[in-house]
Amino acid sequence: MITISTLILIVIAIAIIFVFWVIWSDIIGAGWEPTSKRLVRKMLEMAEVNSKDIVYDLGSGDGRIVIEAARRFNANAIGIEADPLRYIWSKLMIMLLGVNQQVKIFWGNFFHKDLTPATVVTLFLSSKANQRLKLKLQEELLPGTRIVSYYWTFYGWKPDKVDRIDKIYVYIIGRNS
Ligand SMILES: C[S@@+](CC[C@H](N)C(=O)[O-])C[C@H]1O[C@@H](n2cnc3c(N)ncnc32)[C@H](O)[C@@H]1O
Repeated sequence: MITISTLILIVIAIAIIFVFWVIWSDIIGAGWEPTSKRLVRKMLEMAEVNSKDIVYDLGSGDGRIVIEAARRFNANAIGIEADPLRYIWSKLMIMLLGVNQQVKIFWGNFFHKDLTPATVVTLFLSSKANQRLKLKLQEELLPGTRIVSYYWTFYGWKPDKVDRIDKIYVYIIGRNS
């Protein structure tokens, strides 16, 4: 039998977890919200991903972008995810789907990871995180690397391709960034 005081404690615990999650998401870059499967495919198509590419998804969530890059576009892909539960979940999915040769997931903060091997970078973060990432992307990515951002733009950069309806923006390092 749950007493009133236990119920109050549960409600307080949920509220604390929620507030922590909101603050944490803001600190690291963005909270979790998956990109729909249709838009994942569109992002990769707009970036013209192919078998020679190394796709980096910054904040890879449940791994859907890196998995699709490997399965449909035959690319190699790296995901970087700070949330331990999503990291474990995505590792599991990668194993179950048999794409572990092509896809690797790293647990951690992408601001502290080396992005130089990427030929394509995918993002669904926040306006603030994109702004914070600009310098790192400019410094570490080779000219010609494609950056595909869902929903959020990069202020001051001119996208090479835009889908205004689905809010997908493709930038090319060295061309318009
Ligand atoms: C909006 S979700 C997008 C997930 C996935 N890329 C997709 O499109 O479905 C953003 C993800 O980025 C992760 N994230 C945010 N900031 C991060 C950081 N600095 N380092 C690693 N992961 C981060 C969050 O934990 C969350 O899973």
